[in-house]
Amino acid sequence: MVGAVAPSSKGLARAMARGADQAGFVIELGAGTGAITRELAQRCRPERLAIVEPDPTAARRLRHLFPHSLILACCAHEAPELFASLPDDALLVSSLPFRSLPDHVIAPTIELLLGVLNHGSRRRLVQYTYHPRAPFDVPHDFKWHRRERVLRNLPPAGIRELTGRA
Ligand SMILES: C[S@@+](CC[C@H](N)C(=O)[O-])C[C@H]1O[C@@H](n2cnc3c(N)ncnc32)[C@H](O)[C@@H]1O
Repeated sequence: MVGAVAPSSKGLARAMARGADQAGFVIELGAGTGAITRELAQRCRPERLAIVEPDPTAARRLRHLFPHSLILACCAHEAPELFASLPDDALLVSSLPFRSLPDHVIAPTIELLLGVLNHGSRRRLVQYTYHPRAPFDVPHDFKWHRRERVLRNLPPAGIRELTGRA
């Protein structure tokens, strides 16, 4: 469920949070230790940042660190209401370990994320990956864009951005 050997580095966290100040609302998926959350919190107002983290210990810690943001201690696909009324320019920032999630979690999670991107022309999902391939396959009218590569991370990570057909 974690899919990483170490928390995201400062360089990766900064790169993942880039542009968050221009989004109407930001949802972070799989915040873990809060390394990326810290950078997001510097760029957007707390009431415009929501965090989803199913690990109860990590979620408790995040609530302590970011007391003014909404923090849901569940899996992303278990909180569809959070994604229901987002602004057109909402940003999803994900550390979800797609390659190690069980099938019964991956399928509804991808369906949820594609649905969100489909309902706002300026919505984006930012995701990092350690692999050369895209984090998950998408229908032909969605597109993964390669963004920067962050070498100062263990292991080095590539950032991808997914946009939809909206
Ligand atoms: C790679 S780790 C987090 C890395 C994070 N950037 C950090 O620096 O700590 C992935 C996180 O995703 C969480 N996670 C796993 N499955 C999830 C799901 N279905 N929805 C939301 N979060 C999930 C795990 O609990 C874990 O904290």
